[in-house]
Amino acid sequence: FQLPEIDNEPVKQYAPGSPERRQLRAELARQLEIVPDIPLIIGGKEIRTDDQKKVVCPHDHAKTLAVFSNAGKQEVDMAIKAALDAKKQWETTPWQDRAAIFLKAADLISQKYTYLLNAATMLGQSKNPFQAEIDATCELADFFRFNAKYMAGIYAGQPASEKGVWNRLEYRALEGFVFALTPFNFTAIAGNLCGAPAIMGNTVVWKPASTAVLSGYYIMQILAEAGLPDGVINFVPGKGSVVGESVLHHPELAGIHFTGSTNVFKTVWKTMGNNIDTYKSYPRMVGETGGKDYIFVHPSARVAPVVTAAVRGAFEYQGQKCSAASRMYVPASLWDEVTTGIKSAVEQITVGNVTEFRHFMNALIDEAAFDNAAGYIERAKTSDVAEILVGGNADKSKGYFIDPTVIVTTDPHYESMTREIFGPVLTLFKYEDTAIDDAVALVGNTSPYALTGAVFATDRQAIHDLTNALVHTAGNFYINDKPTGAVVGHQPFGGARASGTNDKAGSMLNLLRWTSVRTIKENF
Ligand code: ALA
Repeated sequence: FQLPEIDNEPVKQYAPGSPERRQLRAELARQLEIVPDIPLIIGGKEIRTDDQKKVVCPHDHAKTLAVFSNAGKQEVDMAIKAALDAKKQWETTPWQDRAAIFLKAADLISQKYTYLLNAATMLGQSKNPFQAEIDATCELADFFRFNAKYMAGIYAGQPASEKGVWNRLEYRALEGFVFALTPFNFTAIAGNLCGAPAIMGNTVVWKPASTAVLSGYYIMQILAEAGLPDGVINFVPGKGSVVGESVLHHPELAGIHFTGSTNVFKTVWKTMGNNIDTYKSYPRMVGETGGKDYIFVHPSARVAPVVTAAVRGAFEYQGQKCSAASRMYVPASLWDEVTTGIKSAVEQITVGNVTEFRHFMNALIDEAAFDNAAGYIERAKTSDVAEILVGGNADKSKGYFIDPTVIVTTDPHYESMTREIFGPVLTLFKYEDTAIDDAVALVGNTSPYALTGAVFATDRQAIHDLTNALVHTAGNFYINDKPTGAVVGHQPFGGARASGTNDKAGSMLNLLRWTSVRTIKENF
């Protein structure tokens, strides 16, 4: 069960004048010149439909980056059939060969296609070079490599045998096909939602977010070049209701690998509950859904790291990480220092086009995301219990730009303190130092989510007490760090409550969901 050494992909810095910066610029220019016509990929075949859609630049929505085909019912049915046809061969492929394909894909991402994927993620999903690099190159390559390592670790788990008897565990793929429903916000997550079931021997029907079809298409090409057989992953952009209609009613649906909104996941789950008699097996449900991620500041905290965590945690990638800090509890004794620090740091942030390289923030993904976040900001302007500390401007005339915005509220139940926004809006609430326990209780009682959370304190007893009191409020809990930026192999990622099934992406726990084990006893 030995594999080559597995390490995290190093992060390129794109310093001014660096060769990597030049190459990325050249690739951006190239991608802005062309308008690829992206097909469905079913059983390795490129298929186009008459239902053509556009991918536009979120920061320049007059610019069409690509066109793509939306799948209809017929194509979705073909994709399911292709996945089932490819299954026999793939699930019996030795695990070392499956691992080798994903390790090769990671090397292709690292060495050959880093600029292709980063540029597609920058232009299509409006990420700056650093955010694209840590996602489309580093995290994606890390998922592929670490999944190979964890798979080998799982297969090494074998029971005891005695003289004359051989007991063994056979880690088979699930019976049927897996449906991957993937989000726009991380190219790496999309790759992993397909890649994790696939490396375990499953075949996949993949519906990417319609706003991230470009980077998804390039992942398909890289996997094909790495040797992934036709039909193992079938790429079917399409309307959720159309794709879902075929997939969720199919007897061979073996599992769902999902990242997206809580509402969609619940709708999928309800539909499957109603169809439960249709399925051959109980489909595995693995979902990472919404969040209302917090920073809790204890009176013993040092202020400088709190300010950094708030600004990076809330505003990197425009607050569109499911892990983004969006509510903050600050003690009265530190209130002035924390709010002054955050205001001054936020005033330094610039917002603009990704191709200018210098902006910390870029555009929101689409008009619906823009309108939703801007709505919270507008309502705060006229609220009796909230006001804007900094930011507050939004402009969608050219791209979906919103300034980083900090709201302060006197009401811990205020809407921006409790509802997921998925945009660059951070809300602060001041608590009295004499009422810490009440403030801690608010963290878990005012939101249904439990994805990420951070506490800041220097007092060891306070760290211990907060860690215990907040036990069910976050699947990823950070002490003196921002609540974003989990690294594969270091901080397995996932939340509980309305945030997901907590199957920890980038770990053995996730991969175990994609295997169905047969126990074999043989007498000699
Ligand atoms: N895994 C991503 C993070 O930790 C969402 O920020």
